[in-house]
Amino acid sequence: MTTLTTNALSPAGFDYLAKLVLDRSAIVLEPSKSYLLESRLNPVARENGFDSIDELADALRKPNSRKLSEEVVDAMTTNETSFYRDIHPFELLKKTLLPELIEKRSKEKRLTIWSNACSSGQEVFSIAMMIREHFPQLNDWDVRLRATDLSSEILQRAEKGIFNQTEINRGLPMQLLMKYFHREGVHWQINDDIRSMVRFDSVNLIENWPAMLTGVDVVFLRNVLIYFTPDTKREILAKVRRRIRDDGCLFLGGSENTMNLTNEFERVQVDRTVYYRPI
Ligand SMILES: C[S@@+](CC[C@H](N)C(=O)[O-])C[C@H]1O[C@@H](n2cnc3c(N)ncnc32)[C@H](O)[C@@H]1O
Repeated sequence: MTTLTTNALSPAGFDYLAKLVLDRSAIVLEPSKSYLLESRLNPVARENGFDSIDELADALRKPNSRKLSEEVVDAMTTNETSFYRDIHPFELLKKTLLPELIEKRSKEKRLTIWSNACSSGQEVFSIAMMIREHFPQLNDWDVRLRATDLSSEILQRAEKGIFNQTEINRGLPMQLLMKYFHREGVHWQINDDIRSMVRFDSVNLIENWPAMLTGVDVVFLRNVLIYFTPDTKREILAKVRRRIRDDGCLFLGGSENTMNLTNEFERVQVDRTVYYRPI
């Protein structure tokens, strides 16, 4: 008879790891997400030479486990993203919001757009290509495209601007692929002139934000608040308000809103797009 060995995570191990992830990233892992923790941390445990996730948890309790804990947090982030994701915010930016901002900033000739929780960079590169395609008048402006994320692993990928065929197939029009990418082995890499428009930095939403991210005109903060508690969402939105200009705009993800979280933004709906204006 074959004996099946299982490496099921103990409740104490789950509690310890869920608290570590919460403290470091604010990502909430309910006990019902135990399967997710197991499936994502089994490879981390194996790669680091542990026989089980409980052993991994024991190692994390020891001093000098910073790097290991970063690996754990990285593994627990969900990096789902795509080019021109949910298309409508990009359309509104192109047709209305950017032309309005360009008019308003015509004297200072400076624009800052921040893709927060940027994952592998598709969102910010979508904006960069849009600016290159449709706003030649910005060529002599100081256009600051900032992209930040907690996960250093995903930021390293984003900075390279290399995407596999599946990622390319998700939302990137063929004409933009031909114009702004080149082959890199079996992958595609975004060309340097677009890549160099973006600055990537590591920013944890629940820690201090760098001073350079102030006076921001457009903030994309999409599909990340969903992972946090209402109190964390409140704190983050209050911080965003302090960093965004009074006439700037904020985009949240399709399933996110500011209801019961802040009175500092008003919801604006334009056709099928919702964005938020500071009050
Ligand atoms: C689902 S992706 C969203 C990507 C992109 N904004 C979009 O909408 O397509 C969520 C991203 O949030 C990042 N993230 C999670 N917790 C974070 C935190 N505390 N601070 C900064 N980024 C965080 C993850 O690393 C991940 O890349």
